[in-house]
Amino acid sequence: METLMIAGGRPLKGTVTISGAKNSAVALVPAAILAETPVTLDNLPDLSDVAIYTELLTELGAVVSRTADQMTVDPTSLRSVPLPNGNVKKLRASYYLMGALLGRFGEAVIGLPGGCNFEPRPIDQHIKGFEALGARVTNEGGAIHIRASRLTGAKIYLDVVSVGATINIMLAAARAKGVTIIENAAKEPEIIDVATLLNSMGAQIKGVGTETIRIEGVDSLHGCRHSIIPDRIQAGTYMIAAAATRGDVIVDNVIPKHMEAVTAKLLEMGVQITEMDEAIRVVGRPDYEPVDVKALVYPGFATDIQSPMASLLTQANGVSILTDYVYSNRFKYVPELIRMGANIRLEGRSAVIQGGTPLSAAKVTATDLRAGAALVIAGLTVGGGVTEVSGVEFIDRGYDNLVSNLSMLGAEIWRQG
Ligand code: EPU
Repeated sequence: METLMIAGGRPLKGTVTISGAKNSAVALVPAAILAETPVTLDNLPDLSDVAIYTELLTELGAVVSRTADQMTVDPTSLRSVPLPNGNVKKLRASYYLMGALLGRFGEAVIGLPGGCNFEPRPIDQHIKGFEALGARVTNEGGAIHIRASRLTGAKIYLDVVSVGATINIMLAAARAKGVTIIENAAKEPEIIDVATLLNSMGAQIKGVGTETIRIEGVDSLHGCRHSIIPDRIQAGTYMIAAAATRGDVIVDNVIPKHMEAVTAKLLEMGVQITEMDEAIRVVGRPDYEPVDVKALVYPGFATDIQSPMASLLTQANGVSILTDYVYSNRFKYVPELIRMGANIRLEGRSAVIQGGTPLSAAKVTATDLRAGAALVIAGLTVGGGVTEVSGVEFIDRGYDNLVSNLSMLGAEIWRQG
């Protein structure tokens, strides 16, 4: 198993270019199978989750061709194949095949998804949506069987604001008969990205980015070309890394509007930020104010950036409170940061971080993707010694070219093993 080795203590300096968004890509790739003709996706991130999705589409009979940052999905010879086991278990977002296959063929058999298991992540709202559209859903030996003789538009109120359920219902409803209304829908930029692709394919979706989405079903969808939005979580991670190492970094190819919650918190801490059209410059300072951070659904501070933020808050002069209102216990990285010398106490769904304690190099383990990002940032701040982060396979799910990007910014980081 590979580990990441980090000899920290150097300020990050230079420019990093952000790739396409993972959480868009893993929905856009399955969305492509709703079309009758080829779909091309540009600005595709080079991530293990995308590679697994490529294999899944091939298992379904699609012809997938890829270059470094582009994918074309030709769904001409697509079939509805049951996928109860295998690759579907390797990533959480395989659940989007439920909505996509249901929309395309009226049936799907998909094993319950795997992915980052920082806590139980139910899919009851996805199923509620499929059932409202007229599907029968059963769990047979760990695989979800979904069947509908005819999908019919319906009004669906989500009991929890869910990114996955909102997208999955859009996928299933795009070709249903009649109008579907999703109330209490999630508003994340990735949802807008999926709706933009579907509308380019001929769908009739309105209201994305608000809490009410209206989908008028159409008989068929066609191929198109679509460029994936930049990854706001990757961008936020590099912004935080720049601040934590007291560096000076231009984070390029971002949509600054998507970064507002992170930008606001960094400014509150005393980080210097300059917004440009498609880039943000982050300049660190020797001293930072402690801040309270509440991870919320978009446009709030993203739960996916709360763990990297915790590493930065260990550098502030005082006590910060980090609360996650999306997941109640996404704090598996905390014991690892404590091994590095951080002073953090968990209280319910909050981490109370006493900043100003110098971190030291240690052997630590990433238990999920964003935990990995937190540990890398912590390692980058440590002057003296080498921090060894295992669990690299989690980090590879969401950060392409992490080692080369950080090396270009002057970090001493390498893979071993
Ligand atoms: N929830 C339910 N029932 C459902 C669906 C969700 O109770 O049917 C709960 C979840 O347990 C959670 C909350 O609702 O407490 C929000 O979950 P959501 O469905 O929005 O999460 P998701 O769609 O499974 C996506 C991202 C996550 C990100 C969350 C929240 C993808 C592939 N994943 O997950 O990204 O944390 O939204 O923004 O888009 C990551 O990138 O590291 C990551 C985990």
